[in-house]
Amino acid sequence: MTSVLEVQHVTMCYETGHSHPLVALENITLHINQGEFVGLVGPSGCGKSTLLAVIAGLETPTAGTVALHGDKSAKRLGRVAYMLQRDVLLPWRTALDNAITGLQVQGVGRGVARGRARQLFVEFGLTGFERAYPALLSGGMRQRVAFARTVLVGSDLLLLDEPFGALDAITRASLQQWLAAIWGKLDATCLFVTHDVDEALLLADRVYVMSKRPGRMCLERRIPLERSQREGMFARPEIAKLKAELRAALFDELETPIPSVVDSEQGGKQ
Ligand SMILES: Nc1ncnc2c1ncn2[C@@H]1O[C@H](COP(=O)(O)OP(=O)(O)O)[C@@H](O)[C@H]1O
Ligand SMILES: [Mg+2]
Repeated sequence: MTSVLEVQHVTMCYETGHSHPLVALENITLHINQGEFVGLVGPSGCGKSTLLAVIAGLETPTAGTVALHGDKSAKRLGRVAYMLQRDVLLPWRTALDNAITGLQVQGVGRGVARGRARQLFVEFGLTGFERAYPALLSGGMRQRVAFARTVLVGSDLLLLDEPFGALDAITRASLQQWLAAIWGKLDATCLFVTHDVDEALLLADRVYVMSKRPGRMCLERRIPLERSQREGMFARPEIAKLKAELRAALFDELETPIPSVVDSEQGGKQ
């Protein structure tokens, strides 16, 4: 399997002006393979957004390395696409022109960019809304436009920071189903941050759980079901057990020391 991203032993401290710096991330190790949908779950303030900023190349870690396609010195800004919780669409641009913003920044001409966006709008259920301004779109549609903008940039890796976190429960559930259904067609690789264990179980191939601050990696699990089989998945005993395990890690209630991620890393690679 081709590795897209390798994060190794990343620690991130912020200077606070006090005697002690704030340790936002401590010894974080994770990897993402080509085509994988990886979920990252952690409590608020544990450093999830900080980790994405480090991966995107917006922040330099205090220690540790990040490699894109095996290259630790590769410039990542511009090669990874970043989508935030709020859609941040430009109110004066139509939905279609919002979707092509990233392509235009890359120098793609408006006509070509619009052509690509129109194709994706079909897939994204946005046909007929190309010329609508953001104020006329529902919250779910705005997030789909923002997601289209992220996908169109065509980056090696999509970083999605709680993309459904600001939506109401019904819109959120319908976008989760939508994303699960179209993911296979997108030919993309992503790291999806959420504080919702159910969302990670519904969408991801593999999930990491982070502890509360300072953020450490405390659990990694594969979801043992094809995405197409996940409807009604929470009624399955093996999924209920997995969910309980993820929640225990999230709430820092694991009875036994945490396996895999942390222990295996300390064995040697440092
Ligand atoms: N630029 C910064 N300077 C100082 N502290 C920061 C900065 N960015 C984030 N933090 C702190 O780092 C911790 C992790 O924040 P964040 O990565 O936003 O967490 P999460 O996304 O998991 O909610 C928090 O305590 C936050 O206040
Ligand atoms: Mg955050």
